[in-house]
Amino acid sequence: MTATQPLPPQPAGHPHFHYRDGALYAEGVPLQTLADRLGTPLYVYSRGALAAAWSSYRDAIGGRDVLVCYGMKANSNLAVLKEFARLGAGFDIVSGGELHRVLSVGGDPAKIVFSGVGKQAWEMRKALEADVKCFNVESEAELHLLSDVATSLGKKARVSLRVNPDVDAGAHPYISTGLKENKFGIAIVDAPKVYRIAAALPGITIAGVDCHIGSQITEVSPYLDALDKLLDLIDGLRAAGIEIEHLDLGGGLGIRYTDETPLAPATLIDQVYAKLQARKLDHLKLILEPGRSLVGNAGVMLTTVQFLKHAEARNFAIVDAAMNDLIRPTLYDAWHGLLPVQRRDGPTLEYDVVGPVCESGDWLAKQRMLAVERGDVLAIESAGAYGMVMASNYNTRARAAEVMVDGEQFHVIRQRETVEDLLRGESTLP
Ligand code: LLP
Repeated sequence: MTATQPLPPQPAGHPHFHYRDGALYAEGVPLQTLADRLGTPLYVYSRGALAAAWSSYRDAIGGRDVLVCYGMKANSNLAVLKEFARLGAGFDIVSGGELHRVLSVGGDPAKIVFSGVGKQAWEMRKALEADVKCFNVESEAELHLLSDVATSLGKKARVSLRVNPDVDAGAHPYISTGLKENKFGIAIVDAPKVYRIAAALPGITIAGVDCHIGSQITEVSPYLDALDKLLDLIDGLRAAGIEIEHLDLGGGLGIRYTDETPLAPATLIDQVYAKLQARKLDHLKLILEPGRSLVGNAGVMLTTVQFLKHAEARNFAIVDAAMNDLIRPTLYDAWHGLLPVQRRDGPTLEYDVVGPVCESGDWLAKQRMLAVERGDVLAIESAGAYGMVMASNYNTRARAAEVMVDGEQFHVIRQRETVEDLLRGESTLP
């Protein structure tokens, strides 16, 4: 299939990445310069885009009592965390490792919530010692362990129970978490009983109610359905003498990968407050745990075309990035936009863009109309969330470098890994 190439569009909705005279820029820096200087695969983030995403929450909140805890699993590079800490964010962590990262950039423990279905005693201890705001507890067994660990330290752990409201967030099954089939949370029907158990445990103080229903959600209705169920629960607890201070609705707001219309933070927050007011529960402090919507469109991944291969059924552009660098297409069948870093005139061909890894599932984009040649650099869009953090060393491939652009400047925020790095720690038998 050939066609005359329509010029690639300006990256839709990602204003910090834009074309100037046929060259793709991140803010004031040409991406070709970054590829030439730092090599590829390369993750490139825009500091301005991070700040803009943060503003979309801050402006939506206005004067209301909302704490935004960045779901840092989406991108936990220290420079990214430091930016959000500076902007006043809290953090949603899921491991002792993530706690260590946040504390190392001076994140405020009083704004940290600790989520996750399998917290270990050492992780609980570290978080209690740091005095985090809240543990989002996902099972009765976890509650008992947490109470024991807290008691042994002479402390009390503030907790929310993560309840599973059994709503369908409509996302990919791997990233939908609020259905009763999922491993996450405590079934909402069991929650009153588990709250009563919590209230009686010596090392536990009840602080809130929590849920997280899924990711890449583009409609407000699943949130409102979950909220109704949570508010019923909160009313019931109150009647039983258990007071709740905060309501944590998790993360999950989607971003634009292709033609989605994402749910704006303002829409979500306004509609949540409308309900809280109607139910006379607007004294509750609201917590949100957005990950993807704060970083997803603040990053691209650059990759260089190694070879073009014209097979009988398909044309392949074989690039130097692979599923180990960005696993979302392989794992979720995810669609990421693809832009040439230098626009090229001339006819286009339909290509599958694939990596060098020995798996048929190793692809980054399929059936894209491209005018490319060997050596061209491509930018994979919307790679700021769940990109680098999910990278692996499969095929003994060293992981990419990361760079943050700030106006006309750029800063390497993670060195490219070396093969020596990969072998360190391994040994052969004596
Ligand atoms: N809070 C909790 C408890 C979570 O489990 C998650 C994400 C978040 C907050 C942040 O959700 P977000 O705002 O980013 O949707 N690797 C998948 C996404 C997995 C999401 C896991 N949990 C992907 O690449 O699409």
